[in-house]
Formats: sequence, structure tokens, C-alpha cells
Amino acid sequence: MRDRHDFATHLTNRNNAKAIMTNPRAQAQQSKAPLARRLREGLKRFFGPWGMFVRGFIKHPVMVGSIVPSSPTLIRHMLRPVDWKNTRLFVEYGPGVGTFCRPVLERMAGDATLIAIDTNEDFIDYLRKDIRDSRFIAVHGSAADVEEIVRAHGFEQADYVLSGLPFSTLPAGVGPAIAAATHRVLRPGGAFLVYQFRARARDFLAAHFKRIDNAFEWVNVPPCFLFWGWKD
Ligand SMILES: C[S@@+](CC[C@H](N)C(=O)[O-])C[C@H]1O[C@@H](n2cnc3c(N)ncnc32)[C@H](O)[C@@H]1O
Repeated sequence: MRDRHDFATHLTNRNNAKAIMTNPRAQAQQSKAPLARRLREGLKRFFGPWGMFVRGFIKHPVMVGSIVPSSPTLIRHMLRPVDWKNTRLFVEYGPGVGTFCRPVLERMAGDATLIAIDTNEDFIDYLRKDIRDSRFIAVHGSAADVEEIVRAHGFEQADYVLSGLPFSTLPAGVGPAIAAATHRVLRPGGAFLVYQFRARARDFLAAHFKRIDNAFEWVNVPPCFLFWGWKD
């Protein structure tokens, strides 16, 4: 039965192929179909993370805080002081669609781990599907729970914590709680890396970190402040 069916399919395919070979219209249609599909897929790939990010912003504008993902220049600038050789655990708050995750993974050692924590479940689902790297763990949760999350994954402390959180628009009390938990979870010599559109983010760090380096990055939409709070 199966053989008959396969044979019938073979005949249909052969006849279709013949029709295409002898019919210029059919030929044009056939070459158009894969091109249109390729174009559609290319556009989806190109706008994929952007589309996802914009949808996330429309759904939760206060929590996402920005409509444009970070620029490659900002990413390089923010990650420059990281000592990758001595990094076993890197934590990121608010990864969104993973703009920083990929550059962090590129720089990280083969046996290091990146834990990315976001309150937006859509972003976490997207990251789990999109980033296939055994060193990467996407967690749906709040940065305020970083200590429990780090312990649940078998670590005592983090070497670096990076934050893209919109500190100034977070609900009251959340920013200070996150800054305090981050200071506790970092190992001595580690750092809290923060990029923010408002200088006020420094106040959250200053309550815990004595040494704070800062910079400003113009090549980003919008330009933003960078802070590195070093743990003694
Ligand atoms: C400005 S977006 C960051 C975008 C991304 N990191 C980039 O560089 O393009 C802020 C992100 O923080 C997340 N977020 C907000 N509050 C959070 C919290 N308490 N814990 C973890 N993530 C949070 C939002 O869901 C959003 O994905």
C-alpha cells in the first residue's frame, strides 16, 4: 500500500516537474516561491529580536523602560573592565532579548556560567529557544531574589552582576532591595555593572559600594550613564 502511495507521489512529482520544465509561467512561480519564503524568513530573523523587544515594551513599558536594545558600542564599553579569566559566574538582570547575553557568552570561559534573570516570561521563553549554549541559564524571576537563584544553581557568589534594569521606574523599594542583594551576592573584587539613562542609578549603588567608576556613552539610543561598583 505504502509502495503504491510512494509511487503515485513519485509520478505526481515527475509530472509536476515536467510541467514546470515546459511551462515558463510555472517556472517563474517555482523560483519565486522559495525566494519569497527566504525573504520572509530573512526579515523575520532580522527583525526577530527587535519585534520581540518592541512587543515587550508595549506590554510592560515601565518594567522594560526602553524601546531600543543596547548598542554594540555600549556593550563593549560596559564589559571592558571584566576579568574574564577569573569569571566563573556572571549574572545579568533584565536581559530582554539577549543583547548582552551573546557578547558575554563570547567572552566567557568554556566552564563559566551566565545566569540571566528577567521578570518578563515572554523574554525568558524567547531566550531559552534562541540561545543554545550549555553555559547559559535563563531564569524567570526578579533580580531581588538573586541570592536564592544563584544558590539554587549551585553557586555561593557571583563574580560580576550586570544590570539593564530601569532603576528609576521600578516600583518603590525594589531598586534599593536589588542593590543590597547584589552587594551581598558578589565576591570581594567582583563588580556590579550598571547602565542607565538617568544618573540617579548611582544613588542605588552608592548606598553599598564605596568605589564606583563611571562613564557616559553617547553611541546608544538614548545615550546613557555607565557605573561599575566594585566590592571590597
Ligand atoms: C531596558 S530593558 C533591558 C534590555 C537589554 N538588557 C538590552 O541591553 O537591550 C529592561 C529589562 O528589565 C526587565 N526587568 C524589569 N524589572 C525586573 C526585575 N525586578 N528583575 C529582573 N528583570 C526585570 C524587563 O522585563 C526588561 O527586560
